[in-house]
Amino acid sequence: MCGIVGYIGQRDAYPILIKGLKRLEYRGYDSAGVAIINRGRELNVYKTKGKVSDLEHFVEDKDVSGTIGIAHTRWATHGEPCTENAHPHYSQTKRLALIHNGIIENYASLKNKLQAKGYTFQSSTDTEVLVQLIEFIQTSHELNLLTAVQLALQEVIGAYAIAVLDKENPNQIIAARKSSPLVVGIGEGEFFLASDATPIVEYTDKVVYLDDGEIAVIRRDEKLKVVNLDNVECPHDVKTVTMNLGQLEKGGYPHFMLKEIFEQPDCIRDCMRGRINVEADNVVLSAVIDYKKQLLSAKRFIIVACGTSWHAALIGKHLIESLCRIPVEVEYASEFRYHNPVIDADDVVIAISQSGETADTLAAVELAKSRGAFIYGICNAIGSSIPRATHTGSYIHVGPEIGVASTKAFTGQVTVLAMLALSMAKEKNSIDNHTFVNIVKELQQIPEKMEEVLKENEHIAQLAKIFTYAKNCIYLGRGYSYPVALEGALKLKEISYIHAEGYPAAEMKHGPIALVDEEMPVVVIAPHDDLYEKVLSNVQEVKARKGRVIAFVSKGDQMISQIADTCIELPDTMDCLTPLIATVPLQMLAYHIAVCKGKNVDQPRNLAKSVTVE
Ligand code: AGP
Ligand code: GLU
Repeated sequence: MCGIVGYIGQRDAYPILIKGLKRLEYRGYDSAGVAIINRGRELNVYKTKGKVSDLEHFVEDKDVSGTIGIAHTRWATHGEPCTENAHPHYSQTKRLALIHNGIIENYASLKNKLQAKGYTFQSSTDTEVLVQLIEFIQTSHELNLLTAVQLALQEVIGAYAIAVLDKENPNQIIAARKSSPLVVGIGEGEFFLASDATPIVEYTDKVVYLDDGEIAVIRRDEKLKVVNLDNVECPHDVKTVTMNLGQLEKGGYPHFMLKEIFEQPDCIRDCMRGRINVEADNVVLSAVIDYKKQLLSAKRFIIVACGTSWHAALIGKHLIESLCRIPVEVEYASEFRYHNPVIDADDVVIAISQSGETADTLAAVELAKSRGAFIYGICNAIGSSIPRATHTGSYIHVGPEIGVASTKAFTGQVTVLAMLALSMAKEKNSIDNHTFVNIVKELQQIPEKMEEVLKENEHIAQLAKIFTYAKNCIYLGRGYSYPVALEGALKLKEISYIHAEGYPAAEMKHGPIALVDEEMPVVVIAPHDDLYEKVLSNVQEVKARKGRVIAFVSKGDQMISQIADTCIELPDTMDCLTPLIATVPLQMLAYHIAVCKGKNVDQPRNLAKSVTVE
């Protein structure tokens, strides 16, 4: 979810806003815009799909004068990237302008209510519904902007960081946050607003970090006021920013990859937001509702993907086959597209891609579509090529993934696959309701359990030292943990350049066990699932050959932990959700090994974030 910048003071706002957006470019975005109130109290909104530089070009001949403004870089979640969907959004009468980071879950019902009152919409975003709601409340009750924002936000379900301008009151910015970050910078006779401190630090190091449910009332020549939705004043600490720009861009983490590993609990919350009905313990995927017939009548599912997304596909196979009893094949997109696959209208093809631009996966989608298959996309980048080529799909909503090594996108893909399997199983009655509710309840616990795993960071950093001189490494797992072993090995390969292979644990004795010696670390994913005893035997086989075993086991493990050389205990979860827990420590392990070896963690050699060529 991307970038917000605001300014009110004595200086021209535009240069500060544009420079602020550039400071936030690292977060990844698809469009940009500004809203400025000039001295004639005109509220001018300029926005465009593309880069901040495109916005600068667009406004070259426009009136961008004024000492109060807001600006935004959008990472689309609702409505594809285009100028109409870019922020800021005007209200109906163009009295207000609003920018937003986050997701308004109940935007559809609010939109229907406003349309019934005659409101029309210029965009397909969730955000525009909020600014129209605020204006509706403001004008129908003749309220000031602050009160209208408070009442509107009481109706909103979702995540937001917003900033609102009212041309009838050009001396104030109203800003509010819930789940998406927002910072107020306090200067001499001027205020700044931003998603993080990077656009602010060159002007002031005095900042206030808003908390969830807080609203900042920023008025020219007055002290900052912070209130909640009930208009109760909130105490707020003015902090001093000590981080440099580079550190700030990474949220204080040394690398984007580590930031994205630690973001995963919140990303999975965002991924499930509006799709898991907490009270009803139900899963609602709009694509399954809209295309139930095509999905449930499928004779077979084929999942096409590359790299980490292909590992997620293997987990998707397990989930759909075990919960829905529909056969699933998993194919490398690069192979699928060239082996003249047998495909027809009874097939559903799922395409998984973080970037939505992977050439092989896009080509596989086009081929399958040309042969009559129904195509379902699971992507992160809204409006990218693959989602546009599919019949329907579900976005993973984990926000921009900057590190080349995929982390939060993988767990987001697995989460969507779990929700897809659950919602189809519910429709097919292929699992009993008790099992369904248990899995949904456990899925809701995953973010918290991930937070528990992240507390092992220091322990894993120490463990990484074992690997620094390793030339080869083997990752072993069974069942749901086999794709986790593959993913752990890929993470290690791509950022530390140590050769690593993931293997089904039972396959060791069919060859790879010849590699085992004291030099080669063997990583074993061994949760207390129904294959635990089998993995125990495999670990004993490795130990019998003096292999060094690093085991990731469930809390309270009594057997493998006794024979492994090193052991990391993980929170227990249901077998089918194990990948969401067991993958995280392997991401951390690969990260710390690469750091120990002095590698370029965020941009490993030879790799690109999006492989748009064959
Ligand atoms: C994973 O860490 C790699 N960056 C790579 O394998 C990646 O998963 C693959 O290129 C597929 O990318 P996509 O998900 O954007 O299609
Ligand atoms: N959900 C809003 C949209 O899709 C905001 C996205 C963002 O956080 O940039 O426009």
